[in-house]
Amino acid sequence: MTITLENPLLAPGLAEQIFPQAKHRGAPCPLLQVEGVTRLFGAEKGCQDISFTLYPGEVLGLVGESGSGKSTLLSVLSGRLPPDRGHVHYRNDDSGWLDIYQAEEIRRRLLLRTEWGFVEQNPRDGLRMSVSAGANIGERLMAQGIRHYGTLRAAALDWLRQVEIDIARIDDAPKTFSGGMQQRLQIARNLVSAPRLVFMDEPTGGLDVSVQARILDLLRNLVRELDLSVILVTHDLAVARLLADRLLVMRRSRVVESGLTDQILDDPQHPYTQLLVSSVLQA
Ligand SMILES: Nc1ncnc2c1ncn2[C@@H]1O[C@H](COP(=O)(O)OP(=O)(O)OP(=O)(O)O)[C@@H](O)[C@H]1O
Ligand SMILES: [Mg+2]
Repeated sequence: MTITLENPLLAPGLAEQIFPQAKHRGAPCPLLQVEGVTRLFGAEKGCQDISFTLYPGEVLGLVGESGSGKSTLLSVLSGRLPPDRGHVHYRNDDSGWLDIYQAEEIRRRLLLRTEWGFVEQNPRDGLRMSVSAGANIGERLMAQGIRHYGTLRAAALDWLRQVEIDIARIDDAPKTFSGGMQQRLQIARNLVSAPRLVFMDEPTGGLDVSVQARILDLLRNLVRELDLSVILVTHDLAVARLLADRLLVMRRSRVVESGLTDQILDDPQHPYTQLLVSSVLQA
């Protein structure tokens, strides 16, 4: 099987424009290559014929109305839901390209605990609510073979600081935290293992607007600092504008438009995207 470096979504030279650092290395090498992914639960329910390429350091937003298939696509991309058709290839530094659904289940699960992260909309689904905040953060490092208590504790303290949680709360269980704190803890738990690729499904969906703003600010800084690649599901175009470099607009299981975020939001081409953008303006 051959993987091309061509990105079907980017015009020649555009990848270099988005990732200036890539200029010095020649053509950037993608991190994820998605080809014809389809998973349907019924006619137009799910996702179909989705192809795109994700580059290192890039934030890709999946937007579209409720039921358009965003979460289904995210589940397929993150190794949690086998597609009916199509392939998801992930480039692993050590072993080159991996077709994640050809790989063994154990390999996929290891990826999700180490090189990948998944930030759930509801932190209850992404945290262990009754073990301490510190243990929630340390767990992923332990999955990477780090056992030294002092190291785990230091990493937990460092990450609590980074996500602006009072370090005095390190031994408290997240069930005693507010929703915003829980979401920040879930972010810390995912990022402590220095993942290369993080999936997020409506990471600020259930939160108050003011709490949302703080978390978005935090995410934006972390994504830049850590040079993370992110695939972010959101129905909120303001969130997409703030975080995403590029967007895929989904409607009834298909991608109807894709391109640079600013271009899509300022000058949408597809009638559905035009409607989506104008309904936000009127809201
Ligand atoms: N496990 C499942 N079994 C049956 N149908 C499903 C399943 N998962 C999703 N669907 C259906 O597939 C369609 C797409 O759902 P999906 O959750 O991917 O949409 P979404 O874009 O994430 O929506 P939302 O913005 O509301 O989260 C919906 O019609 C949904 O009912
Ligand atoms: Mg969803």
